[in-house]
Amino acid sequence: EKLPVKLEVNGQVHDLKVEPRSTLLDILREQLDLTGTKKGCDHGQCGACTVHVDGHRVNSCLTLGVMVSGKKITTIEGLSNGDELHPMQEAFIKHDGFQCGYCTPGQIMSAVACINEGHANSEAEIREYMSGNICRCGAYPNIVNAILEVKN
Ligand code: FES
Repeated sequence: EKLPVKLEVNGQVHDLKVEPRSTLLDILREQLDLTGTKKGCDHGQCGACTVHVDGHRVNSCLTLGVMVSGKKITTIEGLSNGDELHPMQEAFIKHDGFQCGYCTPGQIMSAVACINEGHANSEAEIREYMSGNICRCGAYPNIVNAILEVKN
């Protein structure tokens, strides 16, 4: 039986009915058509599905929709201000913080949280915080440079 869930996603409130086992990731992608959030491993190991819940980053593949009812969700689609990109998005472009781009939405959501949560005080600290976001193309040094630029 489906359960009622209220989600505020990127400032818009949605009243949804979801399966008890539906992940936030699947709800975002399949019910709300917000496909910027990516499914890599679907079990908490790659970070491609990273979003913010009440300002904190989470792996949306490990988060059940029913667990976040009433909370504020931000996805990569909600980061820009209209046509104006978020400074972290600009910095990823400037520093080539991606190649294929598949992990990029998750990387950027983690990168923003890294600064907001106060874990961007050194390159080592950034690397530690970002270690749950895997990039198969190996753009790590450029991602760190992008975060350092926004931090400073
Ligand atoms: Fe969620 Fe990989 S899809 S961590």
